[in-house]
Amino acid sequence: MAVTEIKKGVYWVGAVDWNIRSFHGPTFTTPYGTTYNSYLIVDEQITLVDAVYTPFAQELIDHIAEIIDPTTIDNVVVNHIETDHAGALPNIMALNPGARMFATNNAKVGLAKHFDQDWDITVVKSGDTLKTGKYTLSFLEAPMLHWPDSMFTYIGELKLLMPNDAFGQHYASNFRFDDQVNFNHVMDEARKYYANILNPFSKLVLKKLAEVESLGLEIDMIAPSHGIIWRQNPDKILQAYSGWAKGESAKKVVILYDTMWESTTKLAKAFMEGITEAGVEAALYQVSKTDHNDILTDVINASAVLIGSSTVNNNILPSLSPILDELVGLKAPGKIGLAFGSQGWAGGAVKTIEQRLTEAGVEMHGPAFVVKWLPNGEELQRAKELGKEIAMQVVHS
Ligand code: FEO
Repeated sequence: MAVTEIKKGVYWVGAVDWNIRSFHGPTFTTPYGTTYNSYLIVDEQITLVDAVYTPFAQELIDHIAEIIDPTTIDNVVVNHIETDHAGALPNIMALNPGARMFATNNAKVGLAKHFDQDWDITVVKSGDTLKTGKYTLSFLEAPMLHWPDSMFTYIGELKLLMPNDAFGQHYASNFRFDDQVNFNHVMDEARKYYANILNPFSKLVLKKLAEVESLGLEIDMIAPSHGIIWRQNPDKILQAYSGWAKGESAKKVVILYDTMWESTTKLAKAFMEGITEAGVEAALYQVSKTDHNDILTDVINASAVLIGSSTVNNNILPSLSPILDELVGLKAPGKIGLAFGSQGWAGGAVKTIEQRLTEAGVEMHGPAFVVKWLPNGEELQRAKELGKEIAMQVVHS
């Protein structure tokens, strides 16, 4: 993919990973691939901001070689030590053994454990700067956005923010900028990224956004470490992050369930009927048939979540366990919840669902809705009424 000058003297030299379909092990599906963005600042001193995932190391070096001799790098800024951004550091440092590295203290500790190399690492804190010639790189620590070592790098002269994972998206493209691609699609992927990675750290996101504002940083381009660079709409992604971090949610209900013999499906559809009669948008997912990250994204952005399961071995169906585990980790405070399901001689599924929803911070609407074996007409009518009741609560929330 072509090297791109994103600002005067600043080049995208990263890699596009068209074929990755699962990130962070099995936890994040990436149907549109991703990119590992690395930026080369050509000034009196040459500075590389972040590297790429290890298998793309040669691609990074080849891209750098299109602009400068890749053995002439003076500084390497490590905004984040996760392998997708630091994996190629040994390759870069092998070519530039005298280069100075700049990273947070947490990153320095992590780099030692990851690479066991004797690199010349300068620990930086928020407010520290690096003058490279006509440009000044300012560092802003961003712990837990999303690792303890995370950091943003800002170039005031260019109004350019390089915040690593923050504001990124898993979105491979032959283009680099938001005005060159389907903007709504990129925003959807940014929302998925936020919901599935940053949502547990929303309070810290709000604090960081406030800090950026209080510092008066002028930003007209945000160049994250994954996906598309925001040059036309940096304000839109900043505003979107603010809303997501505040937990602003759509007036929408998400119903997710799994079933053995369709009794729970019937209940899910009855809830849906009631919600629809109340004029509220709803989505329905059978979890074993749907991408779990898409479901979680929808849940995080909805006002209410109804989760149903048949009971098997006194518990939920196994297909629901991963998504409930992830929801507990991602957190979903301020939402209305309800557990429902069918059971035979023994119950247990709804108890697990209620417990997990409560752990995720969801407020239960009321007692779980359970039927024995198959729901009859009266029970389906009650489910419909309950759906309507929850929808009205969503409207007035
Ligand atoms: Fe936290 Fe893109 O790595």
